[in-house]
Amino acid sequence: MTPAPRELLERFGSPLYVYDEQVLRARLREIANLVRHRPFHPSISVKANGNPHLLAVAREEGLRGDAMSPGEILLLERAGFRVEDMFFIPNNVSDDEFHFAHSRGILTSLDSIDQLRSWARLFPDSRVSLRVNPGTGDGHHEKVVTAGSRTKFGILPSELDEARSILTESGIRLVGLNQHIGSGFLEPSRYLQAAATLLTLAESFPELEFVDFGGGFGIPYREHESRLDLALLGRSLDTLLSDWCRRTNRTIEARVEPGRYWCAECGTLLGTVHAVKPRGEGVIAGTDLGFNVLQRPAMYDSWHGIELVPATIGERATIPVTWVGNICESGDILGKDRVSPMPLPGDAVAVRDAGAYGWSMSSSYNARPRAAEVLVGADGEARIIRHRETWEDLMRGVA
Ligand code: LLP
Repeated sequence: MTPAPRELLERFGSPLYVYDEQVLRARLREIANLVRHRPFHPSISVKANGNPHLLAVAREEGLRGDAMSPGEILLLERAGFRVEDMFFIPNNVSDDEFHFAHSRGILTSLDSIDQLRSWARLFPDSRVSLRVNPGTGDGHHEKVVTAGSRTKFGILPSELDEARSILTESGIRLVGLNQHIGSGFLEPSRYLQAAATLLTLAESFPELEFVDFGGGFGIPYREHESRLDLALLGRSLDTLLSDWCRRTNRTIEARVEPGRYWCAECGTLLGTVHAVKPRGEGVIAGTDLGFNVLQRPAMYDSWHGIELVPATIGERATIPVTWVGNICESGDILGKDRVSPMPLPGDAVAVRDAGAYGWSMSSSYNARPRAAEVLVGADGEARIIRHRETWEDLMRGVA
């Protein structure tokens, strides 16, 4: 049984990210079993949650990892991932970052003609993947749509001939085509359309070993949202893949790289109410959960379930509550006008589905040390997997 929120806060302090290992493993298994097609090698995206203890659970469940930066590669290494189980998918990086990945033998995806030229100059005769922009994007907010002719990502199909000449001239082998059209869809039709486009492009590259359809699988943050039908998505990908294999008389490895789906739902963010003010019909509840701790509501107007965990027994009136943090900006809002039992100073608060892009996007803005993280195992035991930052940490690097 998961320990009570108040007990966890007393033991580990506030604010606190808490992860449930059983939920984590259940989601990882869903991803691992997405399609029947073989070979199939799903990755988890480190950017959603880079805690090496969680990454190690993903590795145990047989998943690979994709990284956006050398730092994320180091996190995968720390979690015990092998070179062949890592995929480097950067965007607009320096030669130094290419050297970092190449010296380790990590397969790299190049996402522009310029980056392909830089790579070809540094490492002729190597193997690479190209990130394609299939022209269709999707996502829960315009800031997270990562394909379409006006976004910064990927090589457009119209640029592929130029890419092909660079590859031929430099003797580089193209082993993969990858894409990622955006983040947080609950309806899979655009993803499937983009997957079909990628497979069509793959037909003209005979040496290709894999296609990577990307991540983006959404989760229902709100009660009325229905779950993404992952089984249907998997079956549809299987159909696309088997049709392709029949049509081309070739086999191909399939990959996906979800971030949110593997870790969002196992994570809860716990905090403390410090002050409550009357405002309009309801109240503003001041907590220690500013956008330094969870950035998503301020950044994308994202909705997370917020539950009061009262410190005292007894009836509380139900009122509209706007939950805010302790950062000195008016946009420091966690949730607006939520119907809740009346909060009081000393109560705890639990923010749901905070495991993805929670800690990993947190900051030390307003010079607040970043939160601690705890993993609750199947036996109900909670163990610390990241210590709370200290004031000394804030001073580190000051010359
Ligand atoms: N692969 C690539 C190349 C990506 O850029 C991303 C996410 C993923 C995979 C994983 O996407 P996912 O399965 O998590 O949707 N901070 C935003 C999400 C940004 C996603 C950026 N790229 C949020 O909190 O909603």
